[in-house]
Amino acid sequence: MMQKKKLVVLTGAGISAESGLRTFRDSDGLWEGYEIEEVATPRAWRKNPQLVLDFYNYRRRDVLKAQPNAAHVGLAELEKYFDVTIITQNIDDLHERGGSTNVLHLHGEILKMRSERDEHLIYDITGDIKLGDKADDGAQLRPYIVWFEEAVPMIEEAVPVVQQADIFVVVGTSLAVYPAAGLITVAADSIPKFIVDKKIPYTSTVYNLTAIEKPATEGVKELKELLKTFLL
Ligand code: APR
Repeated sequence: MMQKKKLVVLTGAGISAESGLRTFRDSDGLWEGYEIEEVATPRAWRKNPQLVLDFYNYRRRDVLKAQPNAAHVGLAELEKYFDVTIITQNIDDLHERGGSTNVLHLHGEILKMRSERDEHLIYDITGDIKLGDKADDGAQLRPYIVWFEEAVPMIEEAVPVVQQADIFVVVGTSLAVYPAAGLITVAADSIPKFIVDKKIPYTSTVYNLTAIEKPATEGVKELKELLKTFLL
């Protein structure tokens, strides 16, 4: 049998929008009412850890209530035909629950927590994190989330995956946050690329890019039709 082609998908908040999880930069975005600096920076954590914990405790509850939608499931189904890697900026687990087996989380995971001292001391969590909850090194536990102004260690893993892609797909991201947004320029010029978004964001010069301007559930369905040509 022929080896499956490597299909790499970069996703953002837009893929989970139809599951009821709000995006960050749309008009009803999550940051409204919350200043980014107040909840998603190391400074916020130092200044008001309780507010930060509350914010992410609510986000965790939202995620646990949400269900994967047809876009998550549709991408998972592509594993039948392609060697698929999902690189997501999302902290929810809807790709995994939608059936994807190879998911790389660039910005952390809401269902994990870590020591505030040691980024490698990571634990699973479904309940709330409270002030006074300690990791095994005695340090306060914090959400396993990459905050603004923090390094994005998983990018080191993501770059070679994108470099080796045969097909590159982007779904539901404004491509506003780096280094994640830069991955689209890491993909080889020669390979086919697709972008699915309700409102296609600005991309600088990207070769071989097909835009599907639709909500993720509909757009991924159309994408799957278009990808059939690459199976021949
Ligand atoms: N279907 C498809 N796309 C959608 C839908 C939908 N139903 N709803 C919204 N979108 C698109 C928007 O048009 C936008 O391009 O999803 C994108 C959401 O963009 P952002 O809110 O900026 O989310 P994202 O790109 O994931 O943000 C990146 O920013 O705050 C940080 O760490 C956080 O991972 C996040 C990062």
